[in-house]
Amino acid sequence: MYRAKKIKTDDKQLFYKTVNKLLIGQVCYESDWLAQLANASALLGHQMDEINWVGFYLLKNDELVLGPFQGKPACTHIPIGKGVCGTAAEKRKTILVPDVHEFPGHIACDAASQSEIVVPILKDGELKGVLDIDSPIKNRFDEEDKKGLEEFVQILAENVHWENIC
Ligand code: SME
Repeated sequence: MYRAKKIKTDDKQLFYKTVNKLLIGQVCYESDWLAQLANASALLGHQMDEINWVGFYLLKNDELVLGPFQGKPACTHIPIGKGVCGTAAEKRKTILVPDVHEFPGHIACDAASQSEIVVPILKDGELKGVLDIDSPIKNRFDEEDKKGLEEFVQILAENVHWENIC
């Protein structure tokens, strides 16, 4: 049974320290990649405020394909270099989008989305996919979210059984 309570703090550093500890507890006792990523998206979906979509796009045959997520049904294939996800994947850099309407080529999956952060997942320099989070308010994500979520993704890079993804 999942016993963790909702983290109630305005301190983002403390928030991510706690979330990332919970993530380690979740992923290190599981060896199935799908179960690991499904619960990782559920963890953020449960713990983060003011978000309307959180999930993964995974690299398959040189494009991003929708993986486990929480939120409304979303677009299933994103070419590398397209949208926020494809751009983060191509550049292998986290992208913070304060206002999605200002991002050229943004792919709208949920009309409620106003801001977004996409963090690439790299294991030993190899791209595995991206973590994508959308918010219904502008400027939801800042440098502290970037740092905390990059640590979150690093835990996944090291612990998910990527070799079994087909
Ligand atoms: N907005 C993303 C597409 C994925 S949805 O937000 C879930 C993009 O521009 O790549």
